[in-house]
Amino acid sequence: MRRIAVCPGSFDPVTLGHLDIITRASMLFDKVIVLISTNATKKEASFTATERMLMIAEATAHLDNVVIDILDGLLVDYVKRVQAVAIVKGLRAVSDFEYEFQMALTNKVLYAGAETVFLTTSQENMYLSSSVVKQIAYFNGDISPFVPACILEMIQQRLMKERGAFDDEY
Ligand code: PNS
Repeated sequence: MRRIAVCPGSFDPVTLGHLDIITRASMLFDKVIVLISTNATKKEASFTATERMLMIAEATAHLDNVVIDILDGLLVDYVKRVQAVAIVKGLRAVSDFEYEFQMALTNKVLYAGAETVFLTTSQENMYLSSSVVKQIAYFNGDISPFVPACILEMIQQRLMKERGAFDDEY
């Protein structure tokens, strides 16, 4: 039986921290589906789901068993549909724990057929988040230490355009 894992997240945009988790998951499972999902507790995403998909596709092109999909609905419904055995999430410092613990337990009640597997974030990515990357890019800072090199330009251009639109408005 092929063991499928789903790696859900906002990926707005994908960072080296995400890529590290996706890469390590691809070594543990036969197939990994990176699932661009909506976090209803976060404000509107900066990148469209299609843009996020293109960026992840570029950054994971070298990983044969990784595919990308977009979810508009409940994670557990998708996991059940594709018969995944695991939901893989990266766990950073203590700040992530309570929220991730709550989601894992809730998902288990909604669907008991898959386990949430936490991979500890590598030490160098412990502090990294998409929102920090966006803050730096917004003020024209260097985001190259934080995002995959192949999509650096894509992210910078897109966020600069966003800032241009904001400046034009005010
Ligand atoms: O990268 P994030 O924002 O921490 O990821 C959270 C995400 C998108 C995985 C979570 O919000 C999610 O699973 N959204 C899909 C909708 C859903 O199933 N929500 C219930 C979670 S208990």
